[in-house]
Amino acid sequence: MADQELWGQVDQYLEATIIAEPPVIFAARKASKAAGLPDIAISPAMGKWLGQIVAISGARRVLELGTLGGYSTLWMASALREQNQSARLVTLEKNPVCAGVAKANFAYADMMDIIELRRGEAVDSLKALIGEKGEPFDLVFLDANKADYPEYLKWVMRLVQKGSIIIADNVVREGAIIDENSSDYNVQGIQQFHKTVGDDKRLEATAIQCVNAKGYDGFSLIRVLE
Ligand code: DHB
Ligand code: MG
Repeated sequence: MADQELWGQVDQYLEATIIAEPPVIFAARKASKAAGLPDIAISPAMGKWLGQIVAISGARRVLELGTLGGYSTLWMASALREQNQSARLVTLEKNPVCAGVAKANFAYADMMDIIELRRGEAVDSLKALIGEKGEPFDLVFLDANKADYPEYLKWVMRLVQKGSIIIADNVVREGAIIDENSSDYNVQGIQQFHKTVGDDKRLEATAIQCVNAKGYDGFSLIRVLE
């Protein structure tokens, strides 16, 4: 698609001019590719955007659902490293191959003191975190199985507090979310997610459509009000 090629070239331009992807984060992207992980990580521009939100919000405790090779994880961890000694990031991954690649990427980036990788089904890990009664998370990045976003949100709500931020990736799906008759479970999951968020008086949300080398999608930015 000609448009997608242009979107990719614009991202390359931005990467060359303003993004300044740190070498260890670049290395994680390359290692994930070399290991054959699917090419579905967020873009460098989006990774830096996430890091900016972590920095601006002053988040100290971050939770990520869906580690993949740890690319987004490392952008957020780098921002945490910069601002706070006691910062922690818990990231959840079901796929053992992804988890193995991510762990190596975290070690290479010397981020093992900030990042805790938990393997297994995200819902099981979320329930375990709730049971541990730790401090609430300041920022949650939701980027795991799209069909389960509504279920994830339900448990995540018990791990956040007033002022927390929830960011969700892939909430536009090439525009498929406007198809009320979609038979795609991922699209249905995202549609239910938007509906649940919109109906929840504790949440204030927006979503932004995005284009880049990987196509057309978007992300939600949600504030927890109470
Ligand atoms: C898919 C998942 C993602 O998180 C993403 O950003 C793009 C695609 C997928 O499962 O197809
Ligand atoms: Mg994603």
